[in-house]
Amino acid sequence: MLVRMAYAPVNPADLLAIEGGYSFDLPHDQPLGAEGAGLVEAVGEAVADLRPGDLVMVLGRGNWCAMRLLPRRHLIALPAGFDPVQAAMLRINPPTAHLLLRHAGVLPGDAIIQNGAGSVVAHWVRTFAARMDVKVVDVVGRPHPATPDALLDGDGLAERALAASGGRPVRAALDCVAGAATDRLASCLAPGGRLLLFGHLSGEPIQVRSQLLTGGGLSILGFSLRPAEEAMGVEGVHAMFAELAALHAADPPSLPVRAIVPLSRAEEGIALARTGGGGRVLFDLTQ
Ligand SMILES: NC(=O)c1ccc[n+]([C@@H]2O[C@H](COP(=O)([O-])OP(=O)(O)OC[C@H]3O[C@@H](n4cnc5c(N)ncnc54)[C@H](OP(=O)(O)O)[C@@H]3O)[C@@H](O)[C@H]2O)c1
Repeated sequence: MLVRMAYAPVNPADLLAIEGGYSFDLPHDQPLGAEGAGLVEAVGEAVADLRPGDLVMVLGRGNWCAMRLLPRRHLIALPAGFDPVQAAMLRINPPTAHLLLRHAGVLPGDAIIQNGAGSVVAHWVRTFAARMDVKVVDVVGRPHPATPDALLDGDGLAERALAASGGRPVRAALDCVAGAATDRLASCLAPGGRLLLFGHLSGEPIQVRSQLLTGGGLSILGFSLRPAEEAMGVEGVHAMFAELAALHAADPPSLPVRAIVPLSRAEEGIALARTGGGGRVLFDLTQ
């Protein structure tokens, strides 16, 4: 499949890769770009289900470029009429939220707690948890207009989280901050609960009181999307994206966009993305 790339965001994974803090070694001969979307330009004779002009999202990395030549299994088809800007932001965060909930082992009637609640991953966690009747207790480092009910991280978080969970046991904690925040989040868990660490926004190593693990029976696990998907196999990944694509088609996402910058001005886009604040910075890959 030949794909004319359209849009690609500056994802936190891209910033980590640039700073040398990413969890995996990336090939030096490949462009950056953890996610992106484009239009089919041409198909090989073995491909029957896609035509030139169809909108596709790329599964692999290396998307900050104009054209890609890829096997069909590396692409996810999106419905006609879907917004290509939104499509470019659906590769990482929806499956991350979906698999975090699966790995967390939560059941209907449970509660979970998540920090970094103003993030896009946290948005998808709330969306998918609501469908499972799982209550989400949100925690933020500073107040966010999008999550007015979120708890402010800090002293007494466990007591405040208990009240916010409405009496439901907090079975799992989703931690993308690390550092001392991990201990505060772990303190909110019910006995035997599970903390999934999947980000490092504080830049600090995790800190946890050992008694939470011995007396409280808590477990701490690391989560990364790509290895989790590798364990699912190609068919499992495509089945998951088919499920997610159906949800997106029924309820089209409107993720906030801060700016769309031509790829020819990549340094400007990266600098803007580093400043934080609401909405993604994307590259227009046609310019
Ligand atoms: N392991 C994986 O496979 C995987 C996959 C996807 C994402 N992630 C991780 O998940 C996290 C969220 O990703 P995203 O794309 O959803 O992020 P995002 O939309 O760019 O949002 C980042 C959020 O983190 C908050 N934040 C930044 N520094 C913080 C700190 N020191 N303490 C508390 N909050 C802080 C920001 O709050 P302000 O707006 O107030 O600054 C913002 O709400 C990132 O760490 C990312 O690397 C991991």
